[in-house]
Amino acid sequence: MKTTSDPAIDRFFLQHLELPRPISWQNIFGRQAPLVVEIGFGDGEYLIASAKKNPGKDFIGIEISGGLIRKTLKRIAAQKLSNVRLLKIHATIALEYLFEKNSLAEIYALFPFPWPKKRHYRHRLFNTKFLRLANNRLNLGGTFMVTTDYKPYFDWILKQNKDAGFQLKKHHIKPQFHTRFERKWKEEGQKKFFQLVFIKKTHKKILAKKEYTLGTLSCATFDPKACKFKSITGPKSIIFKYFDLDAKRKTAKVGILTAEENLTQRFSVLIKKEGPRWEMCVNEQDRILRTATVKKALEEILKSCRKTRS
Ligand SMILES: C[S@@+](CC[C@H](N)C(=O)[O-])C[C@H]1O[C@@H](n2cnc3c(N)ncnc32)[C@H](O)[C@@H]1O
Repeated sequence: MKTTSDPAIDRFFLQHLELPRPISWQNIFGRQAPLVVEIGFGDGEYLIASAKKNPGKDFIGIEISGGLIRKTLKRIAAQKLSNVRLLKIHATIALEYLFEKNSLAEIYALFPFPWPKKRHYRHRLFNTKFLRLANNRLNLGGTFMVTTDYKPYFDWILKQNKDAGFQLKKHHIKPQFHTRFERKWKEEGQKKFFQLVFIKKTHKKILAKKEYTLGTLSCATFDPKACKFKSITGPKSIIFKYFDLDAKRKTAKVGILTAEENLTQRFSVLIKKEGPRWEMCVNEQDRILRTATVKKALEEILKSCRKTRS
C-alpha cells in the first residue's frame, strides 16, 4: 500500500509482510498489554476514541481500504497515540496468520457490510468458521462484539454460532459509537441497532492455517525448453503467468498467482543451475504469506521440471 511518505505518520502502519512472523505484538508496542482488534474501522473515529480512553490497552485496526487507512494514520499521528497500529489486510487472513491462539482480549466490528443479497452471503465475514477462529484467538473471557444496523444480518450471525465456545449476549442499543456509518443510519431515522457480544467460555481447537518454511528444492533432470506448467483452478488456484528463460545463464523465472479463501498473492519462483542440479526457490524479494498453496505451487514447479527429463 502507498503510505503517506511521512515517517512520523507511517510509523503507525504495519507492513505485516515485512515483519518476522509470528508477529511479536509485545515488541511492536514495547510492552505486554491487552490486545484489542477492530475490524473495518472505516474513518477510525471509534478506534481512536477507544485508544485514547484506554491507554492501558493496545489497539490494532484492520481495514481493506488504503484511503481510509491513510486518513486514520494522519489522525492517529495528530493525536500522538502510541497504543494503536493499523494493518491493511482481510480480517480473516489477519486472524489466521498474524495472531496466535489465546492472544487477544477483544475483537469488535461496527456496522460491517451486511451483504443483504442471498447470492452475496458468502462475503459475510462473521460465519461459523470466523466465530471459531475468533474463539481460538481470544483469551478465556475475551469478547467478540459486533454491532449492526441490519437485523437480518444479526439473525444470520446468531445462526452461525454453532459449537464456537461462546456465551452470547444480545442487545438492542441506541447510537453510541459516533462513527460515520452510525451517523448515516441515525440521520436516516434509525434509532436502534443490534449488538451481539460473544464471551469466550471454552477454548476451541481449530485446524490452524500456518506458514511454511519453503527452502530450496532441486532436481537433476530439467530441460527448460521442454518445460510446461499446468495451472490448477478450484478453491485453491495456482495460475502460472509467465516463464522467462535466460538459456545462456541457465536461469529462469516463473510468475505465479495463487488464489485461496480471501487471499490472492503474486510472486515468482527462481530456477537456476547450481553444479549438476537445478535449484528452485520462491523469490525472496516477493513479500507473501507462505501458505500451503504457495508451497504447493513450488512443488508443482519441481514436478513439471522433473517431467522434462533432460
Ligand atoms: C460499512 S463500513 C463501517 C465502517 C465503520 N466501522 C463505521 O462504523 O463507520 C465497513 C468497513 O469494513 C471494511 N471491510 C470490509 N471488509 C473487510 C474485511 N474483510 N476486512 C477488514 N475490513 C473490511 C470496509 O472497508 C469498510 O470500511
